[in-house]
Amino acid sequence: MVTQEDVIELAKRRGFFFGANGAYGGVAGFYTYGPNGAAVKDNLESAWRDRFTVRQGNMEIEAPTIMPEAVFEASGHLDGFDDMLVECPECGESHRADHLIEDNTGIEEAESLPVSEVEMIIRDHDLRCPTCDAPLGGEPVEDFNLMFETSIGPGSGQPGYMRPETAQGIFVEFPRLKEYARNRLPFGVTQIGPAYRNEISPRKGIIRVREFTQAELETFIDPEEDEPPLHEVADVEVTLYPADEQEDEEGSAYATTVGEAVEEGVIGSEWVGYYLGVAQEWYERVGVDMDRFRFRQHLPGELAHYAADCWDAESEVGGDWIEITGFAYRGDYDLQKHAAHSGEDFDVFVAYDDPVTVERATVDPDMSVLGPAFGGAAGDVADALRDLVERDPDAFRNAKAAGEPVTVTVDGEDYDVALETANFGVEEVTESGESVTPHVVEPSFGVGRIVYTVLAHAMDRDEVDGEERTVLRLPPGVAPTTVGVFPLMDKDGLAEHARTVAADLRAAGLAVTYDDSGAIGRRYRRQDEVGTPYCVTVDYDTLEDDTVTVRDRDSTEQRRVAVDDLVATLARLRAGDLAFEDV
Ligand code: GAP
Repeated sequence: MVTQEDVIELAKRRGFFFGANGAYGGVAGFYTYGPNGAAVKDNLESAWRDRFTVRQGNMEIEAPTIMPEAVFEASGHLDGFDDMLVECPECGESHRADHLIEDNTGIEEAESLPVSEVEMIIRDHDLRCPTCDAPLGGEPVEDFNLMFETSIGPGSGQPGYMRPETAQGIFVEFPRLKEYARNRLPFGVTQIGPAYRNEISPRKGIIRVREFTQAELETFIDPEEDEPPLHEVADVEVTLYPADEQEDEEGSAYATTVGEAVEEGVIGSEWVGYYLGVAQEWYERVGVDMDRFRFRQHLPGELAHYAADCWDAESEVGGDWIEITGFAYRGDYDLQKHAAHSGEDFDVFVAYDDPVTVERATVDPDMSVLGPAFGGAAGDVADALRDLVERDPDAFRNAKAAGEPVTVTVDGEDYDVALETANFGVEEVTESGESVTPHVVEPSFGVGRIVYTVLAHAMDRDEVDGEERTVLRLPPGVAPTTVGVFPLMDKDGLAEHARTVAADLRAAGLAVTYDDSGAIGRRYRRQDEVGTPYCVTVDYDTLEDDTVTVRDRDSTEQRRVAVDDLVATLARLRAGDLAFEDV
């Protein structure tokens, strides 16, 4: 079995990713993508953009990564974006309390437990500091806010925070974005970019880091009217691990289809179900092994402060399940909060198919009566009457039926007003639509964790010509290099010829590595190890008939292809329009 250590070792040795700032000793939680990793990440982001922005007809934006404090007061991150921290009394090392529990007891999803229970479990299981082995029982467990704080501008400046999710950059711009969408629901806005979290204990390579890339889609819907095109993915087979199965000792993940799971109410929202189906197909295309993949529902105590229902896409690497994407039904939480805090209009006016006539209760307070009766409070009493008729018109209807005045409260004092003075009436009005606060459905992908999964699932060891090789079976569209070009020998004009072939392939937009050092078998192995799907060798026959050999990474089979056909053949292979056996 390929272990997490194997992946991390290969990643470092072959330039996929490695701890950043090594020259200065490095700081935990920050990683640099090397040339091969940056290329894989870029290919995955392009594939994501193609599926979730272009093919969905969504809009992509790029918002700042530092945002003012007011944004996170409104979003709830200042108050609620915490992890549980326990500090070692001996060595001072900080640890995530829920992870300590998960790693050392049979308890899963400890994040959903209350702090008091976490403290009790640490004490009862005699959990110890992973660094120095000192007992942690009796130590306080505290909530630690994960946002990086900064100061905007010189001097004491204005407090700002590095965004902990790209989503907030979309939500705060909603008043403008709805205009670009011509005020028509549903519409989706995507963003790919960095997010920052001051993780208590970053770990396992790029899985839990302090700076990472998210690819997020916020879909704004009218909850009463808009339905997703569920039929497009109803037959997609998925492995689900619902909350009740997790809570049942005998429970397990099981295979079903998106359509069945939505129909049976296992997936509570059609929109979430739709995105699980779209994502499942996308993961498969970019190289996630579907036998090591599942969708897990959040347990009730695990739900984020904004989420009504949430599923995680999880991949298995080295025996561990890693959350790679969150799918959340966020309701109108975000837009309501930003509307309330900013005073801006985060609603969308939804036009009815046909105008409707409705009865509307009205008041028109008679100030010539209210003034003498209530003096300085008369204006406020009139406002209170207008407010009441909007909020609770039945208060007037009931007062009328009882033949009594209506009562309003201003600054804690009750005022009785006769209905004739309030001028209560009912009129018929024609309405062409209504204001709706859209609900949000959000698939939120962690790009680094997908890079990691795709590398781990692609990594394999087999034997070629009696020699063990490490091979990354990456899909051609994800591999950092599409083709390696080699001259058989560095003499007799073969190298010049091979350089021309490489230049022509590059000019056609293919990612090419040129390699003329060492035995040809070693050159193949080097490319196999970084996932290059095809290698082209220029040999003595090339000089005779202008053909080259094309070698397939996975089968190691070779075909001769005319140099004139090479660009088209490789481009079709990369796009998946041609299978190697048909070359
Ligand atoms: N806007 C919703 C949101 O941010 P999340 O579940 O907190 O939801 C989404 O994050 C994804 O971002 C996760 O599924 C994961 O892939 C990635 N992610 C979160 N924290 C991360 C970290 N510290 N390091 C690497 N990736 C992370």
